Amino acid sequence: MNRKDTTYLTAKPGDIATAADLLRAGDLVAFPTETVYGLGGDARNGDAVAAIYSAKGRPSFNPLIAHVASIAAAKRYVVWSDEADRLAQAFWPGPLTLVLPLKPDHGISPLVTAGLDTLAVRVPAHETARALLTEFDGPVAAPSANPSGRISPTTADHVRGGLDGRIAAVLDDGPCGVGLESTIVGLADTPVLLRPGGLSADLIEACLGQPIGAYKQGDALSAPGQLLSHYAPDSSVRLNVVTPAGDEVLLGFGNVACDLNLSATGDLTEAAANLFSALHRLDASGRPIAVSPIPEKGLGLAINDRLRRAAAPRGI
Ligand code: TXA
Ligand code: MG
Repeated sequence: MNRKDTTYLTAKPGDIATAADLLRAGDLVAFPTETVYGLGGDARNGDAVAAIYSAKGRPSFNPLIAHVASIAAAKRYVVWSDEADRLAQAFWPGPLTLVLPLKPDHGISPLVTAGLDTLAVRVPAHETARALLTEFDGPVAAPSANPSGRISPTTADHVRGGLDGRIAAVLDDGPCGVGLESTIVGLADTPVLLRPGGLSADLIEACLGQPIGAYKQGDALSAPGQLLSHYAPDSSVRLNVVTPAGDEVLLGFGNVACDLNLSATGDLTEAAANLFSALHRLDASGRPIAVSPIPEKGLGLAINDRLRRAAAPRGI
């Protein structure tokens, strides 16, 4: 990958117009969403999408989410359904991605879907993301703006640490509020939870009025990006630790003595918002990371999912 100077942009209207122009020219722009920073490129431009894979070093079988400004914009690309409508009306804009069948003549590059006949779509809630999508007026393919397999970015500095010199610009608008990637629900068939995320699955089930099956590692019906080792810091990660070993730094949860606490009051929403920043910070210490137990409920399901992947053996 050739080195290029990465421009730092702000959330001011002039900078958002610049970012939209870069997207139109087929360049890549990292931008904030309420979940994590995304690495955006025009989803209709195969060269731009190829550049996303190359900047991230991402396996090309792993498809991307198309970000759009509104439900009406999503309907241009996917076959809509009652379930899609119910979930979109309730949770868009927000941290929810829907996987739906592609429409004929959708115009999306096949590199976005990695050859599948479905598309993952999301309307993000972050004001700057929405301003960019509205100004660009087209679908933006955007994975998390980190090198493939590494910790997701929740600040522009995290993006800089991983991708500086590999992308045209980063739009900096502070830390992301939710801090975990979107929840992905497959609706091409019976509703299925493809990835737990920033919208708790109980809220989705309550909205649909039915339980949704969870995707399990190895299922044929999968989010292809759900590789076991992911979100990996350089340091090793050990989970459910009450007493850390001598050389370990402890990432705490709740009322515990630790090096860094995800939420001293045991608030899962606060813990989710702090998770990736905390992993970035503790990784910089160069010491092995131990993590306190985190309850398997609500957002704790998504937090534990990310932590298990961070702790998984590498290189698979
Ligand atoms: O919050 C988020 O979702 C962030 C922000 C930037 O929007 N994006 C994000 O993208 O997390 P990424 O690329 O890191 O994760 C996308 C996930 C992958 O696991 C991928 O396999 C799955 O979505 N996915 C994409 N298209 C799919 C499809 N057609 N069917 C099933 N899974 C799909
Ligand atoms: Mg990612």
